[in-house]
Amino acid sequence: MEYVMFNGEIVERKAAAVDIEDRGYQFGDGIYEVIRIYNGLMFTAEEHLQRLDESAASIGIEIPYAREDLQIKLESLIAHNGVRFGTVYLQFTRGNAPRKHPFPVGAAPTFVAYTREAGRPEEKLQSGVKTILIEDIRWLRCDIKSLNLLGNLLANQKAAEAGCDEAIQHRDGKVTEGSHSNVSIVKGGTVITHPANNYILNGISRRVMLEICRKEGIPVEERVFSVAELEAADEVFLTGTTIEVMPVIEHDGRTVGNGVPGAVTRKLQQEFRTEIEKQCGAL
Ligand SMILES: Cc1ncc(COP(=O)(O)O)c(C=O)c1O
Repeated sequence: MEYVMFNGEIVERKAAAVDIEDRGYQFGDGIYEVIRIYNGLMFTAEEHLQRLDESAASIGIEIPYAREDLQIKLESLIAHNGVRFGTVYLQFTRGNAPRKHPFPVGAAPTFVAYTREAGRPEEKLQSGVKTILIEDIRWLRCDIKSLNLLGNLLANQKAAEAGCDEAIQHRDGKVTEGSHSNVSIVKGGTVITHPANNYILNGISRRVMLEICRKEGIPVEERVFSVAELEAADEVFLTGTTIEVMPVIEHDGRTVGNGVPGAVTRKLQQEFRTEIEKQCGAL
């Protein structure tokens, strides 16, 4: 039997029903998070729940739980489902109300969370993945982790059709991020990644990676970089909750570096794993 969380209660999945006029369903009017579970424990849960609060505040959704209470609720769902390795997905919508554009007065947010079992993508972490370049056609508040993911879906579909894992997006020749990951390049030993502003989601894995760089004395430049710099990079890697630090070995049909994951990427992967093990125990 599969259990989910519906408006704060653990219920059987088939008992969780969302109204057809829920604003998440009709408008994508809501926000979400995906948190990785290792050894039955959430990794960087506080950071994810803080970002959820920030996303909620930026679109005026009031989350009816304190952050600590929400964390306890998610822990109870994970324990209930006995998940050792996987993810917990949670979303809040603005609730259900007759379909009108202005925010409804007095509608209570709809809260859904569920778990999924999944191992670490060990093979790809070893071998690396392929990417394509695509124009970033999304809106100008990519810092909000909103349910409106159509631009991201269109980008990732193009990647899938090209036999690639991820689409690296650019605006006017400036690299922003992947469809569901952040992008960094390495040039001459320096990690270069887009600054955390409205053009990208400030990934939690990106932040863990940057913290590792600071600790390990790896030089970092948080600045806009061009498609030309991407194409001339020694190393390219993606960061994300389910992919950790993922090497890119081929971009737009051209080999990145030597065609194998580079030394800086490997170091970051190793240290990322150490961070996971510090919080969640041995992998
Ligand atoms: C557009 C986008 N950028 C970046 C990320 C990476 O964020 P995180 O490391 O918090 O998973 C995601 C994750 O889903 C994403 O959807």
